[in-house]
Parts: sequence; structure tokens; C-alpha cells
Amino acid sequence: MIRIRVINGPNLNLLGTREPEIYGSLSLQDIQRRLEEEAKEQGIVLDFYQSNHEGDIVDKIQDALSAGFDGIIINPGAFTHYSYAIRDAISAVKLPAIEVHLSNIHAREEFRSKSVVAPACIGQICGLGADGYSLALLALHKKLRRS
Ligand code: DQA
Repeated sequence: MIRIRVINGPNLNLLGTREPEIYGSLSLQDIQRRLEEEAKEQGIVLDFYQSNHEGDIVDKIQDALSAGFDGIIINPGAFTHYSYAIRDAISAVKLPAIEVHLSNIHAREEFRSKSVVAPACIGQICGLGADGYSLALLALHKKLRRS
């Protein structure tokens, strides 16, 4: 059984009410429910997590290895743009990770177009809204089945 941990960073708990013109109208719980259904259909065990705190996210990445997860999907929120600690944690655990963003970070303020986390990931999906999480699940599942 493939096990995937999904980690969401700061302010993503506000989805649904937070700038819906940018991030859409689904709440994080809506996204979680949808992804859990898709994971079940694909026979994947999913663990879905959100935190506003950098250290807690680092702990959750480190724990993914010891807890036996096979891969990580991460939307680091604003930490994307400056958290070397999150990037280093992903590199340290050596689990395949996919970075997801609801919005197209390359079409917004300049500071958003740079991700310091992406180089530690196998890929990045952005600008496709909540579908980005589903696509990341599919891609990670395919990769893990092959390995
Ligand atoms: C985000 C993009 C980030 O720049 C922003 O800080 C977020 C959300 C996204 O999903 O589009 O909090 O990661």
C-alpha cells in the first residue's frame, strides 16, 4: 500500500474565504475530502496536514520518513519563497515530493515566482487550483508504482 503525506503551510486553513478570486472557493476541508476520495479509489493511504508554523512543518517532513510514508505533496504557502529549513528537510528525508500551488506563482508579484523549496522536489504544479493536488497525487502514485 502506497502512503502519501500532504502538507499545507500558513494561511491555507483560510481557503474558501481567503482571496477567493485568487485561491478559489473551496475550503481546505473540501480539498482534503476530494483528495481522500481519490486516494481511496487509487488504493493510497493519505495523511492530510496543515500548519501555520515552519518548525511544525519541518517536524512533519522528518516524521514522514520514520512513519513509513513513500512520498510527500506540499503546498508550503508563503514559506515557499524563503524557507531553507523546509527545503533542507525535504532533501534530508529523500522522499519524492511534489510542490503544489493553487495560484500561478509565476504570474503574480515578483517575489512569488521564486521557490526555494522546488529544487528539493521532483516537480512543481501551479496555477491549476485544487486540481493541482489531484494531479500531484496521480503523478506521485505513478512514480512510486514504477520504483
Ligand atoms: C500559494 C502561493 C503563495 O505565494 C502564497 O503565499 C500562498 C498560497 C498558492 O497555493 O497559490 O499562501 O502557495
